[in-house]
Amino acid sequence: MSNVIFITGATSGFGRAAARRFAEAGWSLVLSGRREERLQALRDELAAKVPVHIATLDVRDAEAVQGMVDALPEAFRKVTVLLNNAGLALAPEPAQKVALQDWHTMIDTNVTGLVNVTHAVLPLLLETGKGTSIINIGSVAGEWPYPGGHVYGATKAFVKQFGFNLRCDLVSTGVRVTDIAPGMAETEFTLVRTKGNQAASDALYSTTTPLSAEDIAEQIFYVATLPAHININRLEIMPSRQAWSSFAVDRD
Ligand SMILES: NC(=O)c1ccc[n+]([C@@H]2O[C@H](COP(=O)([O-])OP(=O)(O)OC[C@H]3O[C@@H](n4cnc5c(N)ncnc54)[C@H](OP(=O)(O)O)[C@@H]3O)[C@@H](O)[C@H]2O)c1
Repeated sequence: MSNVIFITGATSGFGRAAARRFAEAGWSLVLSGRREERLQALRDELAAKVPVHIATLDVRDAEAVQGMVDALPEAFRKVTVLLNNAGLALAPEPAQKVALQDWHTMIDTNVTGLVNVTHAVLPLLLETGKGTSIINIGSVAGEWPYPGGHVYGATKAFVKQFGFNLRCDLVSTGVRVTDIAPGMAETEFTLVRTKGNQAASDALYSTTTPLSAEDIAEQIFYVATLPAHININRLEIMPSRQAWSSFAVDRD
């Protein structure tokens, strides 16, 4: 039986690129996200290569997540990798200008959603144990502060620490846990963050060389296919043309 990867946020960006990368290697795919037509298109693209199960899912809805996992067909229940990828940033403006709802949406998706999916899928990983993985998509924003990072960065710090703490509890189960923390990568991320401002998204990624979704998918595949005795705790990846900046100092 082939390996199975369960991907949240497979309709775009890293999740979709990961689906393609794992399909190339013959893995069976469980693909979820809210945009059903995109899931169908991806299934149409990949089902000739590998078994594909799609499920429309909002990770914020704990009951729906559990129901979707409970309803997984037998051939997709032996999950080898959970890729907790669904997530978003909103509100690039300073904290004092942000609508509370945007903060809630980021927490509900990046924190509560990730916890919902982990809780529902973990029993399936434990059934196999050795060699299985939870791969969480964190961010450099979970480690390094920057203006406008406020709640987004804090949710990714949660992702990092949740993963480290999971490792402590799962150490004897064979289930590995990794925080993959990308820097700037060109996906629909900025389009979502700016609520549809294509020009802002294009401006951010032009005149530099961001990471691509495929770059991150390759790292996810690397982590997932390491020998079972190796656990990458955290993998932080930036484009070579991105680095940190100096401290801000308020002056008279
Ligand atoms: N791009 C970057 O620079 C960057 C850097 C570091 C970390 N990240 C992280 O990488 C992950 C993937 O982002 P991306 O860059 O690939 O952005 P993207 O192209 O916007 O993809 C985000 C994915 O998350 C899904 N999603 C969002 N809210 C959801 C919800 N409530 N329920 C289910 N799925 C949901 C979206 O699917 P639907 O809209 O169809 O539901 C989409 O498939 C995110 O966790 C993001 O925070 C991105």
